[in-house]
Amino acid sequence: MENSLLITGASQLLTLRRVGPRRGDSLSNLGLIKDGALLVRDGVIAAVGTRAQVEALPEARVAEKLDLGGRVALPGFVDSHTHLIHAASRAEEYELKIAGASYEEIARKGGGILNSVKKLRAATAEELKKRAKAALRQFAAYGTTTIEAKSGYGLDVASELKILKLHKELATEQPLEIASTFLGAHVVPEEYRKKKDGAERYIKMMEENLLPEIAQKRLAEFCDVFCDRGAFNVAQAKRVLQAGRQWGLEPRMHAEQLSHTGAAQLGILLRAASCDHLEQLNKKDVRAFGKSETVATLLPGCDFHLGLKKYAPARELIEAGAIVALATDYNPGTSPTLSMPMILSLACTQLRMTPAETIAAATINGAYALGREKRVGSLEVNKQADVAVFEVADYREIPYYFGVNHCWMTLKRGRVIHAANEPTT
Ligand code: NIG
Ligand code: FE
Repeated sequence: MENSLLITGASQLLTLRRVGPRRGDSLSNLGLIKDGALLVRDGVIAAVGTRAQVEALPEARVAEKLDLGGRVALPGFVDSHTHLIHAASRAEEYELKIAGASYEEIARKGGGILNSVKKLRAATAEELKKRAKAALRQFAAYGTTTIEAKSGYGLDVASELKILKLHKELATEQPLEIASTFLGAHVVPEEYRKKKDGAERYIKMMEENLLPEIAQKRLAEFCDVFCDRGAFNVAQAKRVLQAGRQWGLEPRMHAEQLSHTGAAQLGILLRAASCDHLEQLNKKDVRAFGKSETVATLLPGCDFHLGLKKYAPARELIEAGAIVALATDYNPGTSPTLSMPMILSLACTQLRMTPAETIAAATINGAYALGREKRVGSLEVNKQADVAVFEVADYREIPYYFGVNHCWMTLKRGRVIHAANEPTT
């Protein structure tokens, strides 16, 4: 009993109840309870309902109390696509982009991902951890309670393992849950570009030296590939994802971002957990997502940061019945933000998603993209008490007020991990 917590005073409690991914019209169903309450036992939700219903439970009377003071509460955001570990910003490239250089031009001149690789290889694990911890505190401050984190700025055995080991350490040293992804196939590193068949040799190196070690030490759950012009082609992506799967890593992909390559169809064929970006999707691809369990994860922060006009076809995907998720793609090159509320704002104005759809896409569907829909992403009995509380009168104001942080409190497994003000208890 001593570990029970009664949370009341949610003018709107968005439960997102009903396990499983949301498609089509169900994306708008937030399971909203007015004057909602939660009873939490040992970090897990024991009851959810109206204040009257939950307060009537005997356990509620002896529980510790937390009054949200009429604010809006929802499941903590599940940010299913981040490049958490990187050594530094690329602010210098930001200026080049503003002056008119394209992302690919900058990459061809040795900037882009390879610029971040140089910086990461030179950084110590302690430096990287310090930066990541500061970012994780910020994620929590914006209402995020679970993230996915990719390697991919190391691109050699020691540096990729350095990143993946940090994911594991950070998962135990701070409160946010981290789903670890191996993205060795981000781009072909400099030292292999000079060789004949460099990409093939690099893939062979991953197959022989990296994947066995990652699997044996359980350093990742997922294997990702950046399948695009200037990165890996479809045949190479297939080889990497199949090798990853043989070592127990589920596939996910960076697909159809800068050019249309057929990556999304490959992801669907391989039953990838998600295909992310999708700006260049065609009609056939959209229909295929409608019939697939592979999540279509949209990352509008990239187009915003790069100043691109062609956003992913969110409305078509929703109408086709695809499982649409939203994520930040927190990274130094294309989306230097860790604010899910900002992503919701962009999804509303640029992807034409409704506020309700953006919330479902950023919670339960994000959880589904990480295979965690039974534990997080909604406020239901037996799920983790991961809650984001916003200082707003109506949930629609979360995306409406853009660029301002209205997250008032964040709880992970029933424990307060961020408070804008002192809790009222
Ligand atoms: O998700 N597209 C590939 N990877 C990242 C960008 C990485 C970078 O530029 O550093 C992305 O957009
Ligand atoms: Fe990415």
